[in-house]
Amino acid sequence: MANSKYEYVKKFETDDKLPPFNWIVVRIDGCHFHQFSAEHSFEKPNDENALNLMNSCALSMLEQFPDFVFAYGVSDEYSFILKETSIFYQRRASKILSLSVSYFTSVYVMKWKEFFPHKELKGPPFFDGRVVCYPKAKIIRDYLSWRQVDCHINNQYNTCFWMLVKSGKTEREAQELLKGTVAKDKNELLFQQFGVNYNKLPAMFRKGSCVYRDKVEETVKTDEGGNPIRRTRTKVVIGHLDIIGPNFWSEHPYILNED
Ligand code: GTP
Ligand code: MG
Repeated sequence: MANSKYEYVKKFETDDKLPPFNWIVVRIDGCHFHQFSAEHSFEKPNDENALNLMNSCALSMLEQFPDFVFAYGVSDEYSFILKETSIFYQRRASKILSLSVSYFTSVYVMKWKEFFPHKELKGPPFFDGRVVCYPKAKIIRDYLSWRQVDCHINNQYNTCFWMLVKSGKTEREAQELLKGTVAKDKNELLFQQFGVNYNKLPAMFRKGSCVYRDKVEETVKTDEGGNPIRRTRTKVVIGHLDIIGPNFWSEHPYILNED
């Protein structure tokens, strides 16, 4: 590359390498999705298509970038995890963050029609993002638990709130009724007033969405006799599972194992 007298401007760039031996979390969040969801008449409190679109973007992200080992999403946010040993873009924070946000946003727009065939995209969806380092896999588990607890609390509240509003209460009245209630009260309210068993609501709403690689058995072809030939292969999958307890992690030890 030619060396011009302008080259010195390079020296102003700062090193933003993330510290080694740290797990990396990239969390992206839809900007003004309160408004965006209203403009596109998303179902309240949960729009299945909108959530599936978010999940599809996250799945595409893991397929595109193998360094992302796990993702967890709820509402308009998604967290992506990179291992402590990852050398993705030399661990440069701005590179990792900017590509995550731009890739996710592009896929969101590209796939919009697939999930909303009868709804025109009225304005550009956009996302903000942040990168946080955590020194231990144990803290990554706590981070994910924090997000899943948040999902549960918000979803339970929003489910009650919108049931009350849809039954004729004003938003103010619904808010007043729910003030000071604990989880048990909300479950009671749903059951007594609306005959809804909270635990029977779709797992995607209650648990959020996990995206990760798993071994799956697939039929690859059939032999001459018409018998299926099955192979095990690794695939990016989506699940709506509990990630607070130990079961998921002991069944998928390779996701958060430390080298
Ligand atoms: P900023 O992130 O600060 O820009 O604000 P925001 O408006 O995006 O709010 P925030 O990220 O705190 O919360 C996400 C918001 O998106 C929710 O409060 C809802 O208004 C909306 N939203 C997300 N998912 C759904 C959905 O499935 N259905 C509906 N109706 N709204 C949703
Ligand atoms: Mg948001």
